[in-house]
Amino acid sequence: MFAVAFALLTGLTLVLSSPSRSIHEQRTNLPHGWSRIRRPDLSGTLPLRIALKQSNIDKLHDRLLDVSHPESENYGKHWTLEEVKTYFQPSEDSVEVAMQWLEESGVERARIEISKGRNWVQVKDLSVAEAERILSTEYHIYEHIHGGTRLACSAYSVPSHVQPHIELITPTLHFDGPPPSKRGHLSARSFKAVDIAPLDSATDDLSNCDVRTTPPCYRALYNIPAEPTILAASKNSFAIVEYTPQAYIGSDLDLFFANFSPSLVGRRPEFISIDGGVVQTEEMDFEVNIESNFDIGYAMTLVGPGQPVRLYQLEDIPEGSAQLLGPFNDLLDALDGSYCTEDGGDDPSVDGVYPDPAPGGYQGPKDCGNKQKSNVFSVSYANNEGDLTPFYQIRQCNEYGKLGLMGITFLFASGDSGVAGNNELCLFPNGTQSVDAPLFNRSFRFSQLLYYFRLTCTTAMFPANCPFVTGVGATQVNPGSTVFDPESAASLTGGGFSNIFALPDYQKSAIEEFYKFHKPPYGADQYNNSQKARGIPDFSVNGVNCTVVAEGLTIAVAGTSAAPPVIGAMITLINDARLAAGKSPVGFINPAIYSDAFRDAFNDITSGNNPGCGTNGFEGVQGWDPVSGLGTPAFEKMRDLWLGLP
Ligand SMILES: *[C@@H]1O[C@H](CO)[C@@H](O)[C@H](O)[C@H]1NC(C)=O
Ligand SMILES: *[C@@H]1O[C@H](CO)[C@@H](O)[C@H](O)[C@H]1NC(C)=O
Ligand SMILES: *[C@@H]1O[C@H](CO)[C@@H](O)[C@H](O)[C@H]1NC(C)=O
Ligand SMILES: *[C@@H]1O[C@H](CO)[C@@H](O)[C@H](O)[C@H]1NC(C)=O
Repeated sequence: MFAVAFALLTGLTLVLSSPSRSIHEQRTNLPHGWSRIRRPDLSGTLPLRIALKQSNIDKLHDRLLDVSHPESENYGKHWTLEEVKTYFQPSEDSVEVAMQWLEESGVERARIEISKGRNWVQVKDLSVAEAERILSTEYHIYEHIHGGTRLACSAYSVPSHVQPHIELITPTLHFDGPPPSKRGHLSARSFKAVDIAPLDSATDDLSNCDVRTTPPCYRALYNIPAEPTILAASKNSFAIVEYTPQAYIGSDLDLFFANFSPSLVGRRPEFISIDGGVVQTEEMDFEVNIESNFDIGYAMTLVGPGQPVRLYQLEDIPEGSAQLLGPFNDLLDALDGSYCTEDGGDDPSVDGVYPDPAPGGYQGPKDCGNKQKSNVFSVSYANNEGDLTPFYQIRQCNEYGKLGLMGITFLFASGDSGVAGNNELCLFPNGTQSVDAPLFNRSFRFSQLLYYFRLTCTTAMFPANCPFVTGVGATQVNPGSTVFDPESAASLTGGGFSNIFALPDYQKSAIEEFYKFHKPPYGADQYNNSQKARGIPDFSVNGVNCTVVAEGLTIAVAGTSAAPPVIGAMITLINDARLAAGKSPVGFINPAIYSDAFRDAFNDITSGNNPGCGTNGFEGVQGWDPVSGLGTPAFEKMRDLWLGLP
């Protein structure tokens, strides 16, 4: 019907049977490990969901800077959830265009639903044949080398007049979340365990910080007070995010606390379960315990007993151990009801589905906008930029921006394999990942690790590449040096430039300076050297030879996973000082940390590099660089600068 009207209106009779269409998303390469195996049963059904374009989303960058740039008169004047929702809600026009398109494609209106947030239009049971016609595509079944399949396509198109009204459509070509994996494939590198040794008793000894980073080492390196005075605990909040089966062990925490913060022995984080998340104890080993033990142990120790720390644990056991999810959507859904569909999740082929039909699955509804927010979120998990479509990442990135408008700080690890991917995966020019490939221009890539147990550290990456979050890397005390000597960038640090996200305003002068004085010796065939791309990390803290207790043993581990909880603790102490002074939490911190005023708040890191893909990677140089970012924080200066802001 519409096609006819359209054709007549424009007089393009030729278009009658094929009105002009635009390819909305396409991929030329599959994420590592996946292959296309066969056509699906065309009479089988899929739930088609259309994410509508949000209003004013092109203004998000400026609105966010308006509340978070230190020179803005609106600094710290964060928005309420309601304000954010109203400002960005898709227009009724977009709802109507999407519904009309479906109707004209032969889907009766009775089958079309609009989510409560009026942000998704969906058809619950569409046959694969119908979906193929509507999207002008062909679906296939894809299989992962370690088992597990997905229904997906490699491109889809929509009528050109519909395209401006949509963000993306699922299920199509999104392979977020690792495939279901067999537990036997667990590999032993999360945080890389570099050393296993008993804990010596001289725990406040600063002479061994090159081989054993401890809480006293962090305090000495960055001037963090040993017994922070907490003044506004009841207004403040600090969240550590973990994904089942990752779980902390209470007795390990107590061993750690006994050495570094005895008053915390017996204390645990406040538990917030999302989508049936549990601190599982069925499976215990280094791989499933190190991340949580580290994150919670350091977060609680560094903020001290006066400030409770929250643990947001995501996913029930079947979802967690099946590893079948897009972990980041689920957290965003729980925090903002205007992001989720409010009736059953995002893409069920990728994200967790609740109530979970699997044996032993969580029987409650999917969490959607019903979980409390925290001022700071520390997330040491990540996905590969190269494996997720641009629109898919942009949609989530914008959501972090919206939460930033509300005054929330998001910290993500920048990755653990230098400019390469984990397991040293690099890229061929066609985008295929391989250990032999020469390129690192999509150096934001998927951690092999994540295939096994979506962990930690990981390589560079989404969401650290998102300009609306803070991506944090790792430094090291050089062998034989002390905490009073300059650190270097750690060679494992994921760092580089995004192929998806453009250079945000706040980072422009830092990157200009970097190219002016320290242009890397690599061409466009090796990385995105356009000088117009978002660079990561933003800044760093020590992430090498870090002490953690797991299974009762003290281990030294390395990874950028160390950075979110340690930096999160510092931001939480700064928020405490600001809240006590009647001010707002710092919220999105990047515009402040890149401003001239904050130059003194960092120890510049001018040595070290992050090799990979047959190159030396990038070099730590004066000013911002894609290995250490702005350097390491000088806590007291940073706190005072932030206390001085309105
Ligand atoms: C880490 O600790 C080991 C000893 O366990 C030491 O050989 C090494 O130099 C330390 N530092 C770095 C940066 O690896
Ligand atoms: C990409 O390039 C590599 C190296 O030339 C080749 O081995 C691989 O088959 C290519 N992949 C695709 C999907 O074309
Ligand atoms: C790498 O960069 C070159 C030049 O900018 C570009 O043509 C190529 O597509 C890029 N490759 C990948 C995999 O991003
Ligand atoms: C490099 O980044 C810019 C800015 O985001 C982007 O427009 C361009 O497509 C990227 N280049 C490649 C090869 O991906």
